[in-house]
Amino acid sequence: MERESTTVIPEIGLHYSTLVNDERVARARELLSEALQDQRSKIDGIRPADPALVEAYQAKLSRLAAARGGAPYFPYISGGLGNGPFVQLGDGSVKLDFIVGIGVHGMGHSDPRMLDATIDAALEDTVMQGNLQHDEASLLMCEKLVTLARRQGASLDHCLLSTSGAMANENSLKIAFHHRAPASRVICIDNCFAGRTLALAALTDRPAYRSGLPATLDVDYITMFHPSDPEGTTRSALEGLQRLLDRYPGQHACLWLELVAGEGGYYPGTREYFEGLCKLCRERGVLVIFDEVQTFSRLSRPFAFQHFGLDAYADIVTLGKITQVCATLYGTALKPKGPILSQTFTASTASIRCGLAVLDHLEAMSCFGDNGWNMRRHRYFRERLEALAAKYPGRIQGPYGEGMMIAFTPGDGSEATAKTVLTRLYDDGLMGFLAGSHPTRLRFLPPPGVTEEFHIDLACECIERVVRTL
Ligand SMILES: Cc1ncc(COP(=O)(O)O)c(C=O)c1O
Repeated sequence: MERESTTVIPEIGLHYSTLVNDERVARARELLSEALQDQRSKIDGIRPADPALVEAYQAKLSRLAAARGGAPYFPYISGGLGNGPFVQLGDGSVKLDFIVGIGVHGMGHSDPRMLDATIDAALEDTVMQGNLQHDEASLLMCEKLVTLARRQGASLDHCLLSTSGAMANENSLKIAFHHRAPASRVICIDNCFAGRTLALAALTDRPAYRSGLPATLDVDYITMFHPSDPEGTTRSALEGLQRLLDRYPGQHACLWLELVAGEGGYYPGTREYFEGLCKLCRERGVLVIFDEVQTFSRLSRPFAFQHFGLDAYADIVTLGKITQVCATLYGTALKPKGPILSQTFTASTASIRCGLAVLDHLEAMSCFGDNGWNMRRHRYFRERLEALAAKYPGRIQGPYGEGMMIAFTPGDGSEATAKTVLTRLYDDGLMGFLAGSHPTRLRFLPPPGVTEEFHIDLACECIERVVRTL
């Protein structure tokens, strides 16, 4: 039977299509899939390290620290195999991975659909894709992202692929500055995170991330939405924006927004908060950029701007992480008139094909919708964390976040406490990460493609074991 693949257009990819449908390939595919299944099925729960592997593992960690110029945050070197949110490390331990490379591995570990897409990619002529030469999967990825983005009416027509969220954001700023030239300023929200390039370090509201770096952009900040004072923070942000637009007439290219502050600590805004800001920007010709690098596919709709009903204001949108390839979406009216956008690589061939498979799977699993799988799992996780917060007052506060982005504040909210709890959770078998400051929270980005309720139960058992000792 002809192999069905959303990533093959028969009339264009004739010879490639013949290759991926070759019966020898089909047999090899089946054998690989069986071998993977045999091994991954053995990884079925959290496990401590194998004492026989510990010494060699420690030596590898030391080599890694020496080679990369510092130890990684976690003593983590993957053993190369996992099963859904479970991952086996090189010391034989198995962790429940609820951070997945900060939101990247949306299908968890050793997923058979990722293997399948990677085989399709391995059979292609090149390992990497780029702006000079694209494959069919690149075309389909661009079309797919534009179609998803336009679903509720956003005027986003074009998609530029790139290798990182930072590059997607750089491209978004370039498009905005180019369109609004000579405007040179950007408006951001307190506590935001945009990425790690020189320009994005200027946007990111963390002085430590700019230490020793030259100033590159003029950035103005407005008040972040805060649930402790919804009306006050909404009003303050709008008044702040008004003041800035009056103080620097015509000088702002864009308002750059995270709809759920990610690195900042999992603070979602509200439709009212964002809409007031976006409307005012629209009136003044200032472009609105939604950064969806962390939020994409984790809320009730593929895009957070759709979740918050802000489609009318989406001038430029960036995304990445879970899609395996990053992207900048924009409308025809903003198409640059000069050659300001390009890089050698767009992504690896495997990334693009895997990204398409992730998108197909999330839709097939009904992740989206007000009562879709994402929101149902959010409620499930939230209820369990609320129960823990009630049982252990003062040791756990929250939860916070939206959809498949969820966080809590341990203990006194200090960075030291959060780090202690994070490390103890890791030792107990649950991987999360830090977010925000004052308070510092622990966040989780469970892989949306494969997380089930029993995984959430297991995570909450780890959390309970750790917080009750605080
Ligand atoms: C909201 C947001 N924007 C941009 C980035 C940067 O993405 P990357 O690390 O892929 O460059 C991140 C990364 O965490 C992010 O959370």
